[in-house]
Amino acid sequence: MNVIMISPGFPAEMPHFTRGLARVGARVFGVGESPVGALEEDVRSVLSGYLQVKSLWDEQSVVQEVERWVQGHGIDRVECLWEPGVVLAARLREALGAPGMTVAQAIPFRDKESMKQVLDRAGVRTPRHARASTSEQCRQAAEEIGYPLIIKPIAGAGSADTYPLHDESDLEQALELTKHVPEVSVEEFIEGEEFTFDTVCSNGDVLFHNVAWYRPKPLVARLNAWVNSQAIALRDTDVPDIKKGKQLGFDVLRALEFETGFTHMEWFLTPKGEAVFGEIGARAPGARLVHVMNYSADVDLFTGWAEAVCHGRLSQDTRKRYNAAVVFMRAQGQGTVRSYRGLEQILSHYGEHIVNIELTPIGAPRRDWKKSVVGDGWVVARHPDLEVTSEIANRLATDFQILAS
Ligand SMILES: Nc1ncnc2c1ncn2[C@@H]1O[C@H](COP(=O)(O)OP(=O)(O)OP(=O)(O)O)[C@@H](O)[C@H]1O
Ligand SMILES: [Mg+2]
Repeated sequence: MNVIMISPGFPAEMPHFTRGLARVGARVFGVGESPVGALEEDVRSVLSGYLQVKSLWDEQSVVQEVERWVQGHGIDRVECLWEPGVVLAARLREALGAPGMTVAQAIPFRDKESMKQVLDRAGVRTPRHARASTSEQCRQAAEEIGYPLIIKPIAGAGSADTYPLHDESDLEQALELTKHVPEVSVEEFIEGEEFTFDTVCSNGDVLFHNVAWYRPKPLVARLNAWVNSQAIALRDTDVPDIKKGKQLGFDVLRALEFETGFTHMEWFLTPKGEAVFGEIGARAPGARLVHVMNYSADVDLFTGWAEAVCHGRLSQDTRKRYNAAVVFMRAQGQGTVRSYRGLEQILSHYGEHIVNIELTPIGAPRRDWKKSVVGDGWVVARHPDLEVTSEIANRLATDFQILAS
């Protein structure tokens, strides 16, 4: 089986998926922007070929370059688990005659308005929404939908250029701040908790699913520097409120006719107990969430995904054994990381439940929290009991500090 993997070296999860493909017996051909020499050895060594392209975002040239490159060799799959490359992968499939998601099927996963239009037609509860490319259209949408609102890029990621709006003055301010964004979505603001619904599918069957609870909502973390945010992959997705989100997720996958690969959906649970769709990507979640799912079930979903994509099955026992919480750390202060405070006490209490600690090393510059969800590190705690898991995650988020100066 010959598989083209777009961007095998970046972002951080891609090398894991690339190795997963090789592990299930695929011949993996990488396409990316970096020179082959810049790929980590453990990625390079599993590739059967690599094509360096000038820019992955010049889709037409990439298609031509790849067509020339693979001439005469059958390509069985084209995979991309990085949000901006999802449509490119579909274009390559069409050009090379490979099965899988077409451009028409991929666009609703990238364009937040077409996404919600398809779902509205299928009767899925989405926030009221409108597409706008001028300030006037934004004002009109605001009037029609009513405050509170949210404004965000049509093809956004990482909560960038996303603002909650409570009134007209917020809107005017946001119009200034989003001037460089060509097209936005203006949406009804949904109060409540926010969760994910992630799946690995094959031929329309959900082989694995996960629900993670964001604490707090990603937008709150994005707008407040001091927050060490958490996400908890839940062990039990059959409790009534979570079940509603799961049902919503299944409906969404059906409406979008998703067939094979990873999906990452976000949804809201309102104080009244209604599950409301947020967004969905035809790719794995970022920010180490696949690792967190792995910790929750003692599995390897990088390989599991590859098996689903290449062989139509997921043979690992993926039953959840734990709630697994990741805590993303942000250093306090500017400059260089000088010390870690409070970690030892937490470890002496909860050490056996803490399964991963990866931090900006002492002596290294602190990271720009606005550019990366992971920030200055990620710590994973897991426990069969959700309350205990939350307690450990809260301790890590509040009593552990990374100090920079
Ligand atoms: N209609 C809404 N009501 C309330 N909050 C919202 C709404 N839309 C977005 N948000 C908040 O803004 C965040 C970012 O929005 P969204 O997930 O649509 O964009 P994104 O930038 O693609 O996300 P990601 O960070 O997952 O890449 C959401 O996670 C949520 O916290
Ligand atoms: Mg999102």
